[in-house]
Amino acid sequence: MKEIDLNRLPQHIAIIMDGNGRWAERHAMGRILGHKKGAESVRAAVRTCRRIGIRYLTLYAFSMENWLRPEAEVSALLNLLNEYLDNEVQEMMDQDIRLVAIGNLESLGETISFKITEVSARTSRNRGMTVILALSYGGRDEIAEAARRMVSDGVAGKITPEAVTKELCADYLYTSGLPDPDLLIRTGGEFRISNFLLWQMAYTEFYFTEILWPDFRDRHLLKAIDDYQRRERRFGRTSEQLRT
Ligand code: FPP
Repeated sequence: MKEIDLNRLPQHIAIIMDGNGRWAERHAMGRILGHKKGAESVRAAVRTCRRIGIRYLTLYAFSMENWLRPEAEVSALLNLLNEYLDNEVQEMMDQDIRLVAIGNLESLGETISFKITEVSARTSRNRGMTVILALSYGGRDEIAEAARRMVSDGVAGKITPEAVTKELCADYLYTSGLPDPDLLIRTGGEFRISNFLLWQMAYTEFYFTEILWPDFRDRHLLKAIDDYQRRERRFGRTSEQLRT
């Protein structure tokens, strides 16, 4: 297994879990079975991240654009999510994992949004790791929603135009209080970010792999972390400045 430096882990990993449909096609199965296998990879990724000491893991589980898929696929994805919340809450408690959900959660329907509230509340004091599920999430929608709330607070006299700094903007996002991702992993061989965490990924390192999400396991995650650890993050500075 790959040797990684446990003292220089990315604090926050975000993952675009792509390729469930192609995995199913390659195995002559329906797309929904691909998502089912994908849910197993979610469990495996959470377990590995917890074991090695990653503090935050954000998973793009359902995008705003995913609503455009056939109804049967949308409801299968929501069912898998429902099952995941039911089945994993005990493990989250045992493993000291906190669950946070980001996105337009009301649009997921009453049953799921109620369950998310419940699981988030139950796990809110866990500190070992935070798992952030992006659900009915779109980066532009998130920014527009933040702008709407800022304007509304402005109109109500709660903030002035001068108070609008980048820190304040970050506070109005779904991710308020969470650190930005250090590493983004996208499986499935595409090279795009698909409306994911647009504001938050300003300085994130990107890692793309051909592996399809249902096949993604420990060794692939460790390879991505190893690749990350070989990079130099300069945040706009020169290499020399970083050495002094
Ligand atoms: C992309 O594969 C994946 C998704 C649209 C959703 C991700 C969902 C899961 C991994 C399962 C459920 C999640 C949880 C948290 C239990 P795709 O269908 O776009 O693949 P393709 O590009 O090969 O068609």
